[in-house]
Amino acid sequence: MIKIAPSILSADFARLGEEIEEIRLGGADYVHFDVMDGEFVPNISMGVPVLKSLRKATDMFLDVHLMIDRPVRYVDAFCAAGADLLTFHVEADDEEKILAAIERTKALGKKAGVTLKPGTPIEAMLPFLPLVDLVLVMTVEPGFGGQSFMHDQLAKIRALRALLDETNPDCELEVDGGVDAQTAALCKEAGANVLVAGSAVFGKADRAAAIAAIRSA
Ligand code: DX5
Ligand code: ZN
Repeated sequence: MIKIAPSILSADFARLGEEIEEIRLGGADYVHFDVMDGEFVPNISMGVPVLKSLRKATDMFLDVHLMIDRPVRYVDAFCAAGADLLTFHVEADDEEKILAAIERTKALGKKAGVTLKPGTPIEAMLPFLPLVDLVLVMTVEPGFGGQSFMHDQLAKIRALRALLDETNPDCELEVDGGVDAQTAALCKEAGANVLVAGSAVFGKADRAAAIAAIRSA
């Protein structure tokens, strides 16, 4: 079963609670929450206080994508704020610190994921694959919503699917960036089971129809 994780980066921030209720009613599985620090990526989005407010507003699974430098520093804060899963970029610190971030997240009873930028080779993921609950493949350069899907990342999705089947078959394989009703079919065919979509959901008036179109692609 494919899971759909609308990215609220493309939602109306003035009415986030209502936007989340619309995607919940529309059949979304996760809320994808993009955290950007203006250092790891050239944009600043939202952080701990917003997550804390959302946690009070919804029971939905909060999938937190940390596009921040040295994320181990913020694991406790994001977990306390109500994240269900934290995903770390392998480029954001050295291997030992990313491992520490994963271990701390799991020790706090939350799920942990890892991700990589489009230019980062798959080898950078290998030390983490047996330890995580989710692997995220970025199909745009992280930092902004509304960019075009990078087809050259499909091979990475396929390769990670094969590695996970061998080493960690319960691990979810998520794709983020430029996913719409067309590119979703390519992601599924390559082996992804969680699809993030920002503009393809919140850019449409009928969120339920947008979610259904991506799910059935
Ligand atoms: C980009 C973010 C994405 C973004 C996706 O850095 O990680 O989650 O919101 O937006 P779309 O689906 O519009 O490409
Ligand atoms: Zn994201």
